[in-house]
Amino acid sequence: MTNATVYLNGSYLAKGDAHLSPDDRGFLFADGIYEVIRAYGGQFYAMQPHLERMANGLHSLRIDGADVPGLARVCAELLRRNGLTQADALVYIQVTRGVAVRGHGFPDPPVPPTVYATTMPFKAKGDPAEGVAVITAPDHRWTRCDIKAVALLPNCMAFQDAQDAGAQEAVLVRDGVALEGTHTSFFAVLDGVVRTAPRSNYILPSITRQAVLDICREQDIPAAETPVLLHELWTADELFLAGTTMEIMPIVRVDGRSVGTGNPGPLARRLLEHFHARTP
Ligand SMILES: Cc1ncc(COP(=O)(O)O)c(C=O)c1O
Repeated sequence: MTNATVYLNGSYLAKGDAHLSPDDRGFLFADGIYEVIRAYGGQFYAMQPHLERMANGLHSLRIDGADVPGLARVCAELLRRNGLTQADALVYIQVTRGVAVRGHGFPDPPVPPTVYATTMPFKAKGDPAEGVAVITAPDHRWTRCDIKAVALLPNCMAFQDAQDAGAQEAVLVRDGVALEGTHTSFFAVLDGVVRTAPRSNYILPSITRQAVLDICREQDIPAAETPVLLHELWTADELFLAGTTMEIMPIVRVDGRSVGTGNPGPLARRLLEHFHARTP
């Protein structure tokens, strides 16, 4: 896909012709925000909530000047230019603070942000009928995990540890609380109640997490945003992940131990059916 069309600062061009400055603060400081949005058969799911979250993140970092609402049109145009209007695809968007001589302070006067978007055909990893294995890992991220910043090294390291252990995700644990995965939200079913960490600076306000909570409310499935303690993982009826790429994915093993019966649980399956009713 090196000749795929990408978007960079107002232009559509072949990826190989897209050049970034080595002074870009995204490169030097991971000073930027990203989003991953999924298209089903060419139709985007939850474009507006994704763009709202991006706008909130940029506001938190005081990065101005990006036309975030206009990115919906850019994403659609990228699907068109890359022949993905009927396909399952992902679009990746990244906005950085822009190009400036290296210095910790924000450029003064501000410089235009760098706005980049690319798209790729989507192929699911993992089968919800089989579920996935996860490991638990210490959460070494910063304490503003509510901002979808491009600084993902702790996530990458924990994810690689999971891969090395033959698992598909790492559930990050801080102060004895199982918060979320490296690129997914995390849920446990305990005594019939679907539980997930409450919104705070320690987790991403995940679009899929919110969809799961909305489905629970609509379907009268008991749910609570209360911390899931590490020791509760060993006795949970079900555990599952939620996110743009995984949708709702049952966890069948955690740190090598079976979850519940060792098979995908009924609540995760039911939630996934309802989730699919919401996707295009
Ligand atoms: C740390 C983290 N938590 C949760 C999620 C799931 O968020 P969403 O449902 O918006 O894709 C992601 C997605 O990348 C993530 O990086």
